[in-house]
Amino acid sequence: MDNTLVTIQNLSVVYTLKTSFAGWLKGNKKRTLQAVDDLSLTLEKGEILSLVGESGSGKTTTGRALLRLIKEKVRGSIHFEGRDVFSLNGRELKEFRKKAQMIFQDPYQSLNPRDTVSRIVGESLDIHHRELSAEKKREMVTQALEWCGLKPVERFWNRFPHELSGGQRQRVAIAGALILKPQLVVADEPVSMLDASVRLDILGLLNDLRAQIGVSCLFITHDLALAWLISDRIAVMYAGAIVELGSAELIAQGALHPYSKALIAAQPSATATKERKRAVLVDREVDPVAKTFCRYYRRCPLATSQCLEEAPGLLEVHPGHFVRCFNWRTDD
Ligand SMILES: Nc1ncnc2c1ncn2[C@@H]1O[C@H](COP(=O)(O)OP(=O)(O)OP(=O)(O)O)[C@@H](O)[C@H]1O
Ligand SMILES: [Mg+2]
Repeated sequence: MDNTLVTIQNLSVVYTLKTSFAGWLKGNKKRTLQAVDDLSLTLEKGEILSLVGESGSGKTTTGRALLRLIKEKVRGSIHFEGRDVFSLNGRELKEFRKKAQMIFQDPYQSLNPRDTVSRIVGESLDIHHRELSAEKKREMVTQALEWCGLKPVERFWNRFPHELSGGQRQRVAIAGALILKPQLVVADEPVSMLDASVRLDILGLLNDLRAQIGVSCLFITHDLALAWLISDRIAVMYAGAIVELGSAELIAQGALHPYSKALIAAQPSATATKERKRAVLVDREVDPVAKTFCRYYRRCPLATSQCLEEAPGLLEVHPGHFVRCFNWRTDD
């Protein structure tokens, strides 16, 4: 049986940047920025896969493209349950939106401050299930709040977002995303605003919900330790491309790409000092117009002249473990 929920093939997203009026007078052409570059990835049913990488590496853009929330020109294809997401028509797109939800980083911005908890959580029922009776809707909102540990439900029902703690607000956002029992959730830094203990609570919650309703999750974070805690597989992104992909254990304990190693070395640990220094120190000169070299070349401690001449592909170095590096065998 095919267990694949999402297949992303050769996804590229290019943003067009606005030219200032002064720039326009000088005759500057349109500037573009390639946020995602030829990215391929699959997500299994019930799987939690983390996209990890530094700021600007294209994680959010990938997540938004997956949910068809990007207006920019997108190349490549995304299939959800075998159907091409980019060619869904109005009714099909509405159906897709029921099955694929997003949880945002900042619940302050994503929750309407004038709505009560019950209205926020029940909002998608009003959009997608207007046929349901008020009683049934109430039952479903209650259940979603309970899933997310907002109990007793009556204590939260009529509260406004500003009357909740940060962790509770994030739980409300999660309840709103899960009320329709979606098959896919894209969680974009869902715990980065929270303190460590609440963070673990929310991660535990996502894990429980996966067991209860079998939801698959694309978990976006810049924190490798967090990704390791929650995910089955980890995809490490750098400059719009996946540089390493494998099981969470493999990446955490046997990372092969120098960027993944640098991320691990940047985690607080007694043994990390040496590598951490190296990760920060490397900064090579490159010709800014040269295009076909490894994107990590400038910061890479393992770089050779080959990395300047051609860009490495994503190579399966062990079953299920992919690395985009010519020198992955080199021990640094
Ligand atoms: N709407 C936009 N218009 C133009 N450029 C954009 C837009 N959104 C993102 N970018 C650029 O695309 C690149 C990737 O951005 P993206 O938000 O996907 O990164 P990210 O990995 O999610 O970063 P962060 O960890 O900071 O959230 C960045 O260089 C960013 O400046
Ligand atoms: Mg982001």
